[in-house]
Amino acid sequence: MAKLVFLPILLSFFLLPFLSLALTQDFCVANLLLSDTPAGYQCKPAAIVTSNDFYFSGATLPVTIDPFNISFVPAYGSYFPGINGLSLSAVRVFLGTNGIVPLHNVPRASQIIFVVKGTIMAGFITSNSNVVYTKTLSQGDMFLFP
Ligand SMILES: *[C@@H]1O[C@H](CO)[C@@H](O)[C@H](O)[C@H]1NC(C)=O
Repeated sequence: MAKLVFLPILLSFFLLPFLSLALTQDFCVANLLLSDTPAGYQCKPAAIVTSNDFYFSGATLPVTIDPFNISFVPAYGSYFPGINGLSLSAVRVFLGTNGIVPLHNVPRASQIIFVVKGTIMAGFITSNSNVVYTKTLSQGDMFLFP
């Protein structure tokens, strides 16, 4: 009886490194040939991943203000394939005077805001208990949206 238990344990230790490799990977670049899913894009085959998948230059696009006095350049999804599956979200935001980012949620990703110039009030509401966390930020400040 003891031998029967020992063998599966031994096999588990033998397979553990291979299983952990299967569960972790450096990246999952979005395969834009397939449609987006609630869990994100499927991975592009590694053989056709290039450095451009990890590169985004949209932060230099011109500022175009909308009715909320905000200019927004997304750096996720189809705009930035390399960020797919990393639970990260990036945007370049320009807020004009009295500008506001409407209440929204960012599923499956955290964000950090970094203020380049000016002063803003940033905050979020927890989804499970409606607790509000806000902070006034100035140039050089960062705030985390978990
Ligand atoms: C929008 O922002 C610009 C730039 O800061 C400012 O000149 C303008 O007055 C703002 N518009 C409103 C409605 O506050």
